[in-house]
Amino acid sequence: MSSIRLTVPATIANLGPGFDLIGMALDRPRDIVEVSLEEKGEDEVKVSGLYANDIPIDPNRNSAIVAARAVLKKLKKENFAIKMKIIKEIPTRRGLGSSGASSIAGAYAVNYILGNPLRIEELIECATEGEKIACGSPHIDNIAPALFGGITFISSFNPIKIIKLEPIRNAEILVLSPKIEIGVEKTKIAREILPKEIMLKTMINQVQSFGNLIIGLMKKDLNLIGLGISGDHVIEPARAKLIPKFYELKSKALENGAYGFSISGAGPSVFALVPKGEGKRIGEILSSILKEDGILSEYSIHENSEDGVKLVS
Ligand code: HSE
Repeated sequence: MSSIRLTVPATIANLGPGFDLIGMALDRPRDIVEVSLEEKGEDEVKVSGLYANDIPIDPNRNSAIVAARAVLKKLKKENFAIKMKIIKEIPTRRGLGSSGASSIAGAYAVNYILGNPLRIEELIECATEGEKIACGSPHIDNIAPALFGGITFISSFNPIKIIKLEPIRNAEILVLSPKIEIGVEKTKIAREILPKEIMLKTMINQVQSFGNLIIGLMKKDLNLIGLGISGDHVIEPARAKLIPKFYELKSKALENGAYGFSISGAGPSVFALVPKGEGKRIGEILSSILKEDGILSEYSIHENSEDGVKLVS
């Protein structure tokens, strides 16, 4: 039985107003995942890399294995044993799609080894099982860009339909990650605090922002994309409370020329779309704002990657 080695990117979900619907692939970091199937035996996962210590090696709790097993179950090939090695380079619990990346990597690898029998929608459904184990919720807005690259819009949940948009070019993505812990069940906590209902006026504002985002992407208008990103009227006000000095960071980023600023996925990282060459300057300003209050942070500068899952030899 053959084996496969692939890489899968970090992602930013939501992009401001597009909660659970839209996400982008980053150029780095990427996890590396190696998978083989054996005719018999137990599932086994070995994890190395920068964030290895955060990843469960119990096959029932490891999202890559859970997703891979969901593929075997769907194909009624449950007798196979999955042998997996993960090099975990995507930070965990930072809002950069770490569990979504693991989940799609596991599902993709097993499906590939077996000759790609599953349709893309089925593959994503299997990956969702891994995301559920890690985060408690079946969202697919990290899984889709990790799989396809670029920017992905979930046009329908049932049946799953994903539309890939071209990546944003001619701009940098600055990611700032405050060194705070929201909790082990970070995404669950960050979803529980969201409003269950919203006012009609809020809905109008939110749809307007999402329209700006999508039309900005279609027209490749960075200012319009940024206006959309910065205009989340529903999720950001609830989650901003979890992120120290969020509104100060946002206004300083925008004052300093960022096109747009919002929370990366469920946080606590934040991100800004900034003009090329400006990421470092704005990153320094934002991290110094946190430092004034004794909060350590890291920032990194990215491109929106064209590539999702990539096979490596
Ligand atoms: N759309 C999800 C959320 C992404 O914001 O909860 C979590 O990674």
